[in-house]
Amino acid sequence: MILGIIGSGPVGLVTAAGFCALGHEVVCVENDPRRLEQLAGGKVPFYEPGLQELVAQGVGQGRLRFTGNLREAMQVATVVLICVGTPEGADGVADLSQMESAAAEIADELPGYRLLVEKSTVPIGTHRQIARIIRNRAGPDAEFDLACIPEFLREGNAVRDFFNPDRIIIGAAGARSQRLIDDLYGSFDCPKVWTDPGTAELIKYASNAFLALKISYANLLSDVSEATGANLGQLLEGVGSDSRIGRSFFNPGAGYGGSCLPKDMQAFYHLSTGAGVDAALLAEVQRINQRRPARIVAKARRRLDPMHGRPVTVWGLSFKPGTDDVRSAPSLEVVRLLLDAGARVTGHDPVAIASFQQTFGPHPNLRYCPDMYQAATGSQALLVITEWDDYRSANLTRLRAAMASPLIVDGRRIYDPQTMDALGFDYEALGLARRDENRRD
Ligand SMILES: NC(=O)c1ccc[n+]([C@@H]2O[C@H](COP(=O)([O-])OP(=O)(O)OC[C@H]3O[C@@H](n4cnc5c(N)ncnc54)[C@H](O)[C@@H]3O)[C@@H](O)[C@H]2O)c1
Repeated sequence: MILGIIGSGPVGLVTAAGFCALGHEVVCVENDPRRLEQLAGGKVPFYEPGLQELVAQGVGQGRLRFTGNLREAMQVATVVLICVGTPEGADGVADLSQMESAAAEIADELPGYRLLVEKSTVPIGTHRQIARIIRNRAGPDAEFDLACIPEFLREGNAVRDFFNPDRIIIGAAGARSQRLIDDLYGSFDCPKVWTDPGTAELIKYASNAFLALKISYANLLSDVSEATGANLGQLLEGVGSDSRIGRSFFNPGAGYGGSCLPKDMQAFYHLSTGAGVDAALLAEVQRINQRRPARIVAKARRRLDPMHGRPVTVWGLSFKPGTDDVRSAPSLEVVRLLLDAGARVTGHDPVAIASFQQTFGPHPNLRYCPDMYQAATGSQALLVITEWDDYRSANLTRLRAAMASPLIVDGRRIYDPQTMDALGFDYEALGLARRDENRRD
């Protein structure tokens, strides 16, 4: 089958390269000239394990190409997948301007029947709005179906997720579109949930909101453990090993971030309240999340008081391991709070220094160091914000020797408290009640 893909961000590019590997031919349309130039030059514009190789394979086999001209895709593709951004707009409502522009462009280039598929995350009812835009421009006889197959890949694991989805949600109506979708997704060996496009749109928000809720609940348990002296690791294990609850996505930290959960939570909250539903639960999940960076920084401030002029290191700038994406990363707020307190901050990340630097902008008290030990050299506190494997497997003796004073604030609970004590660290971790504090057992 020949596919058109509109938008070459993480979702569009992984989908394109993945379908190429399954034997399809793909024309990718990208309207950001810089991104297009990089792709045309064979370079994946962001870090995603395995993607560079997969894209090179598709291009090398002559099945994957990139263009800035939508017509090239519309002329040849039977199915066109829309993978444009749907960022947070004013007041938290989803900004659908990229979807609407793509719809208008599609309408102008529709050469005959095409199956259009929303992969982007959009509020319930968007498919109707998109269909309306197309019909208004292309005329009432425009031949197309519009389906919604929301994307669930996780950055950092996106290639594996493409080939091994937990399930595929298919919102489609009409025999013709269902046949095409069967052809396209038939080889995926996973449950497929067929539904209407609106319900498919909502399933994506409802899933992300549940994940956010689970993380905020783990963060609440972390606070309760700190206050009561409960063993948080065992608490999470005990609760999470109930098969109804599950252990995955059930860890405390600096808060969920990234390009999806924060904006999708906001959009879901607004669409729910807009529909007259009391969505206070969603508001509370967000409130817990927003407090996380301050809670971590407060742990450092308690020990380094005043913080003014002190050298502090931050390990982990991307919103999660395996990506250089810093969109809504908790590190942005952590670094801002440290700088506001007057600290001299050195940031390290295995791959996200450049994207963080670009997003955060310059600050006289902020520098970066590409070597994680050098970043910590002379530091009076080290905050671990992202749980990269490099940090998990750090040479702690070397780290201890490099630091001027041994305060570690572990925002991801990646070290063993006893080992850290034995090595002479002053170790603070989320959910860990210090011996002198609040034990109630
Ligand atoms: N990133 C993720 O992990 C992830 C996971 C699941 C779902 N999603 C959802 O998928 C969608 C895409 O996510 P993303 O992270 O890839 O977005 P992104 O913003 O990083 O990439 C979108 C790309 O589309 C391009 N684009 C926009 N309008 C275009 C047009 N008219 N023609 C050609 N190109 C156009 C942009 O230039 C950009 O390169 C969003 O709705 C997101 O919420 C993202």
